[in-house]
Amino acid sequence: MTSPIRTERHGDVLVIVSNTPPVNALSATVRQGLAAAIAEGVADPGVAAMVIRCDGRTFFAGADIKEFGTPPVEPSLPSVIDAIEAADKPVVAAIHGTALGGGCEVALGCHYRIAASSAKIGTPEVKLGLLPGAGGTQRLPRIAGVKLALEMTGKGDPITAARARDAGLIDMIVGQDSLEADAIAFARDIAAKRPLPRASQKTATADPDAVAAFRKDNARRFRGFDAPAATIACIEKASDGSSFAEGVAFERQQFLKLMGGTQSAAQRHLFFAERQAAKIDGIAPNIALRPIRHVGVIGAGTMGGGISMNFLSAGIPVTIVEMQQDALDRGTGVIRKNYEASVAKGRLKPDQVEAAMHLLTPTLDFSALADCDLVIEAVYENMDVKKEIFGRLDTLCKSGAILASNTSYLDVDEIAASTGRPQDVVGMHFFSPANVMKLLEVVRGEKTADDVLATVMALAKTIGKVAVVAGVTFGFIGNRMLRQRQTEAAKLLLEGASPEQIDKVHTDFGMPMGPFQMADLAGVDIGWHRDPTRIENIREALAAEGRWGQKTKAGFYDYDDTRKATPSPRVAAIIDEWRAKTATPQRTITDQEIVERTLYTMVNEGALILEEGKAQRASDIDVVWINGYGWPVYTGGPMFWASMVGHSTVVAGLEKHGFAVANSLRK
Ligand code: 3HC
Repeated sequence: MTSPIRTERHGDVLVIVSNTPPVNALSATVRQGLAAAIAEGVADPGVAAMVIRCDGRTFFAGADIKEFGTPPVEPSLPSVIDAIEAADKPVVAAIHGTALGGGCEVALGCHYRIAASSAKIGTPEVKLGLLPGAGGTQRLPRIAGVKLALEMTGKGDPITAARARDAGLIDMIVGQDSLEADAIAFARDIAAKRPLPRASQKTATADPDAVAAFRKDNARRFRGFDAPAATIACIEKASDGSSFAEGVAFERQQFLKLMGGTQSAAQRHLFFAERQAAKIDGIAPNIALRPIRHVGVIGAGTMGGGISMNFLSAGIPVTIVEMQQDALDRGTGVIRKNYEASVAKGRLKPDQVEAAMHLLTPTLDFSALADCDLVIEAVYENMDVKKEIFGRLDTLCKSGAILASNTSYLDVDEIAASTGRPQDVVGMHFFSPANVMKLLEVVRGEKTADDVLATVMALAKTIGKVAVVAGVTFGFIGNRMLRQRQTEAAKLLLEGASPEQIDKVHTDFGMPMGPFQMADLAGVDIGWHRDPTRIENIREALAAEGRWGQKTKAGFYDYDDTRKATPSPRVAAIIDEWRAKTATPQRTITDQEIVERTLYTMVNEGALILEEGKAQRASDIDVVWINGYGWPVYTGGPMFWASMVGHSTVVAGLEKHGFAVANSLRK
């Protein structure tokens, strides 16, 4: 087999090139090739300096994640990096694209680093439930200081080449096209310079204040995760006077511990699950896509505005249509206000806001949608209204335009049937707030054309969403499963549990909020029939009293002016009343029963969705719940979690309470 690593001589500079599409992951053959090339450069008296660079779209994007969990193959990445650093001739990393994880660690092992201006450098291992395990936690703080090392390894977000240069991580920034030539010239310039700067020989200054502040500032973000604490401990070790060898030994021990744990297995599962979700079964990956140059949005409410922002931020013009001028003005105002809030937080520059707003055309004229390539309807959930709108779009829109509905529950096939072009109709279910939430459920109708589906899936990536294909079923994937949970939570309340107990089981599990906290946030009155005299359950009793949730400072909880929740004696009385009225026997409900009836039931519903072909794969369901509902990342999503708990345990838990169990869970 030919090595993915080749060497090229440019006079006395040896250029070592990796060609391992798609992202130059540091697989066993790449490591073997790198080790051999470095040895070749060291041994050859005609070589004065070496350059390491990659072909394709990026510098090494890290260790090969597919190898994790398989028996180790020599040479290990740390030993290759040690060999690079130990070379007695300068080695220069020439970085383009993204130097991530093990790729960043290779660069840190080099004596010098130069980068294209568009390059990014980062240690994202924490997002895989890991930490940099090839010396990164020890070299990074020695070069860039404890504070930046904490930021990069603890959060996992890459930094720009310019920031890396300011921090001393990059020695020189060059143009994208001249990277190789500039790297060779640089290598030649410093070829005779000694001593060679070796990161392992530097000292990192301890910064206990920075460590304490980092822990405190990110306590919420790190809640439940194992990797951040282990990462911080390694960075501390790099600056506590321990030798480099002691530091890497500690790092290895922590790395292996995380690698063997369930959290990293779950997070690695999600890494591949998110990429897999973008693939559509039965559609060729190279299918021709419809060009989307202009988007129309119907409805300037919370959803319509949020949806529009996604496209505006991606540089795609949007025409937004409303029925009344005041609603249009309000909607446009909210979009601007949201952008300005991002400026205040330093996430956007004022000129970016103006550029985005410049792409927005607010109008009351429905016919302005005629030339749009994609129109997204985002009005309230009413089938008749939606059918009327799609009928109008059918007569108005140009041929080939994609007509999408943002419905959260309704039958996309019925909506499509109100047009003469059902092949162009698709569901695009955004999650609120639509400009923030990552998930997009793309609903494939019975007649949706392949290129329509593929276009919308590709567009989702352009606007930074994680998209999942769902079939037509009430509530699609996410809300159909959510319904099971909410129904069981309501029953548990009647049988003897309190809102606090049920919510706590969910937040202890790692959810951002429980079923009743969620109801209070979304609005207890959502979906309510609005007749205070017709009370058929606890929720309707609350709604009838004006306990509509956080917005009225009273729902399943009482709220103070800072929206702090406290258990409500009034709610306890209403629940008691309903227990008496329905003659429901009271029992002590265990936390385990809450898990079985609210979480196992969701898994069961997920399995049914899968069996009915309404989701393409189990991992897609995990992607929905992680990105749309805040299911704890470190459990890998409901379906992965169920496989860790064990399907037989889940089945037994469901059977105990008389649920009809999905066949696929029994296998
Ligand atoms: N190992 C194996 N496969 C990888 C990979 C890796 N490190 N990184 C990406 N891939 C695969 C993806 O699964 C995908 O495969 P597919 O085409 O079969 O679905 C393909 O490469 C392309 O990836 P993306 O779709 O993500 O391509 P993008 O262009 O959108 O993004 C990227 C490129 C920014 C490099 C992104 O892939 C990424 O973030 N990769 C992971 C980086 C990472 O986490 N590195 C750390 C690894 S752990 C480590 O290094 C441990 C060390 O410290 C010891």
